Amino acid sequence: MQDRFVARITQVPEILATPLIPLLGASFSGHISKAELENLIADSGMERNELLLALLPIAAALANPPISDFYVGAIAIGSSGDLYMGANMELAGEALGQAVHAEQNAISHAWLKGEAGIEDIIVNASPCGHCRQFINELVQGSDIRIHLPGQATAPLAHYLPYAFGPKDLNITAPLLTPQSIELALETDDPLLIEALDQANQSYAPYSSNHAAVAIETHDGQVFVGRYAENAAFNPSMMPLQMALGSLMRHNLGFDAIERVVLLESSAGKISLANASVAALGAVTQVQLEHVVAEPC
Ligand code: THU
Ligand code: ZN
Repeated sequence: MQDRFVARITQVPEILATPLIPLLGASFSGHISKAELENLIADSGMERNELLLALLPIAAALANPPISDFYVGAIAIGSSGDLYMGANMELAGEALGQAVHAEQNAISHAWLKGEAGIEDIIVNASPCGHCRQFINELVQGSDIRIHLPGQATAPLAHYLPYAFGPKDLNITAPLLTPQSIELALETDDPLLIEALDQANQSYAPYSSNHAAVAIETHDGQVFVGRYAENAAFNPSMMPLQMALGSLMRHNLGFDAIERVVLLESSAGKISLANASVAALGAVTQVQLEHVVAEPC
């Protein structure tokens, strides 16, 4: 079991901790498959929703909150039935708006793993207004079931009545819907090729700034993030934060970073370069490589 889970596992009921511990080995990064989840339900004898809430201390252990020291854990259940954990990430010394909420990290985790829908979100603290708005951007967002400790499960529509969302801006293919973007770039740099592939899956209906970040670590691993915009603009999630969130889930420190590439469309009405340079500067001396690709 990884060190970060040692203190947290004591908060998990023993009937669940026993079958869970073998999953929390060195390679665990917050993903539990549907089959593993079914096994946990069978082995623990716990009821499904009760078990999902009981996993939250493990999700919260993925957090990196140097400013608040407040650990938030979230779980997103994808349409496939797989479970994706996420936690809050704060960038020490930078504007609070550069932080990522646990719900955003869990949802982006599911998106990066190819989920085209989310059924349930489980959180250990009531989702803030910004997160309710972020969830409302997802396909079928208002129907997503929200599970909180001590509360009856209710759809997002209960937590966000009279919502403003993508439909108000005439967007019919909301977040998680496969996007058909075609940016092109002549390169044989594998990190740029990866960033291009991810930018082609990004969600930027409001600015057309299709964008992605690819991070390479000293040991050659690659972590990616895609831009995910929001109808209300401010709750948008930047690709650098999404990639850093993935690095964090994998139990790597920011000192593992070797290269960071931000790839953006030349057709965007905005650029994420300045904001990304500021955010990156909070965690590493590594300079941002900024690349612009042309729509085909
Ligand atoms: N936080 C979340 O992760 N989700 C919420 O919806 C509530 C707030 C985080 C953000 C910040 O890192 C810390 O909790 C304090 O607000
Ligand atoms: Zn929030």
